[in-house]
Amino acid sequence: MHPPSAQRRTFAIISHPDAGKTTLTEKLLLYSGAIHLAGSVKSRRAARHAVSDWMQMEQERGISITSSVLQFEFRGSALNLLDTPGHADFSEDTYRTLAAVDSAVMLIDHAKGVEARTLKLFEVCRMRKLPVVTFMNKLDREGLAPLELLDRISQALKLRVVPLNWPVGMGRNFLGTVNLADRMLSLFKAEEHGALAAGVTCLPLAEAGELLGAEQLAQVEEDLALLETAGDAYSHADFMAGELSPVLWGSAMTNFGVGELLQYLAAHAAPPGPRTTLQEEVVRPEDEEFSGFIFKIQANMNLRHRDRIAFMRVVSGCFERNMQVIIGRNGQSLRLAKPHSFMAQERSIVEQAYPGDIVGLYDPGVLRIGDTLCAHVARQFAGIPRFAPEFFAQLQLLDPLKRKALETGLAQLAHEGVIQVFYRPEMGRQDPYLGAVGLLQFEVLVQRLKNEYRCAARLLTLPFRVARWVGGPDTALAWLQSRRDYPLVHDRNGRPVVLAESPWPLQYALKNAPGLVLHDIEPL
Ligand code: G4P
Repeated sequence: MHPPSAQRRTFAIISHPDAGKTTLTEKLLLYSGAIHLAGSVKSRRAARHAVSDWMQMEQERGISITSSVLQFEFRGSALNLLDTPGHADFSEDTYRTLAAVDSAVMLIDHAKGVEARTLKLFEVCRMRKLPVVTFMNKLDREGLAPLELLDRISQALKLRVVPLNWPVGMGRNFLGTVNLADRMLSLFKAEEHGALAAGVTCLPLAEAGELLGAEQLAQVEEDLALLETAGDAYSHADFMAGELSPVLWGSAMTNFGVGELLQYLAAHAAPPGPRTTLQEEVVRPEDEEFSGFIFKIQANMNLRHRDRIAFMRVVSGCFERNMQVIIGRNGQSLRLAKPHSFMAQERSIVEQAYPGDIVGLYDPGVLRIGDTLCAHVARQFAGIPRFAPEFFAQLQLLDPLKRKALETGLAQLAHEGVIQVFYRPEMGRQDPYLGAVGLLQFEVLVQRLKNEYRCAARLLTLPFRVARWVGGPDTALAWLQSRRDYPLVHDRNGRPVVLAESPWPLQYALKNAPGLVLHDIEPL
């Protein structure tokens, strides 16, 4: 393998809002020395209430783009941390980002366990068999008993979880963590917010009786004995296969445990792996020929700059500035003239990039999400899946003379992946239902129709909250069709999709329509 590529770790943090993703990101950068003052990521947090990162771009172009991808080095490894948009800007982009990483950090608030958003994001990781490292956060606050927390996670995610360290106390009584491999106790000392951990005091657990008190030491010893006898053993192969998640405890805010997480990621997280094309060819990072794919396109709201930025993940070979590539979808060639890389806070022109790296390309409007770019051959990697929308709406055109512009705009923006379009059988292509994973996608759609297609439209919300692609025998589809209470629409490829206002009618259908299969991810 090309040496720089084997040292790359491309990962994302998956979590529920408020678990501490922004804080952890900031501390990872701080710890690695990529930033010297905490706060650069926080500026994003402050901007959270803006409609989106993306609209925020108008005002603060640099920050929102750079915080989509953060590249930093640690102990000889290059780490690429991809942002998974959360909160208000949660959207299909959040899921798509997971198609571009090789590992994930699952961040859990130890007082809350697995929350809804984490569960969904984890399902995407599982689908990709991504290795997932778990970080239990906020130990400086009270939380669930460690064994119970592990058990809950394991049950909720049907995942084997193996702790690498173990907490001693929590909240006000938080004393530190024991490294399970060598039974060394790292003593907790709250760092000033923004300070770099100056070094942690360690001592063998066996010698910590005086410090912990006999009772607490006995409790820890008991936990550890239980883990040894009843717990799963760590297996690197199982971690790489996404079947086992190593667990680290810490407190991002106080910097505790962040160094261990970073060391673990740098040493053990997955290096860039191979990808399969639609023709079932396997492309490996060490292959000579350059290839990459687009997983996200960020449009520029500034009307004077119609350009968009397409985020490309390098899969094989070496990317070089100014290189000519072929778009696999249509065989068109494209010169990649002004590629950008993302180093901590600054965006800079990139000359070369290796497998695992993310490059920002200026897109003159020819690229689409899922596109594969190769140096010599027209290839297409297996697609980035589409996820079932959870919000639905229709568009009401405010100027009837603009119908054509609306149709063109909608078609193009749907292609770009801004929203999903569903057609009602009785309406043909007219007045489709629109679906999104996050509400912000609708706002983006309306803004872009207005700015780019000069077409003012209003959104009419629809009551549906669930969509499922219909599979199974024709009789199952016929069962749904025979009933008036199951609205059926077609996706862009003409596949039937059933809509519902809650999961219940779908559960009823699954029980009563023999052979019915419902997919929450678009079948390939
Ligand atoms: P998010 O990006 O996942 O949404 O979470 P974020 O980092 O913004 O953290 C959410 C809240 O949790 C913040 O508090 C943050 O300070 C706090 N937090 C994160 N990590 C820890 C931790 O290890 N221990 C404790 N005790 N708190 C933690 P906030 O009050 O919403 O914001 P702020 O006033 O601290 O900025």
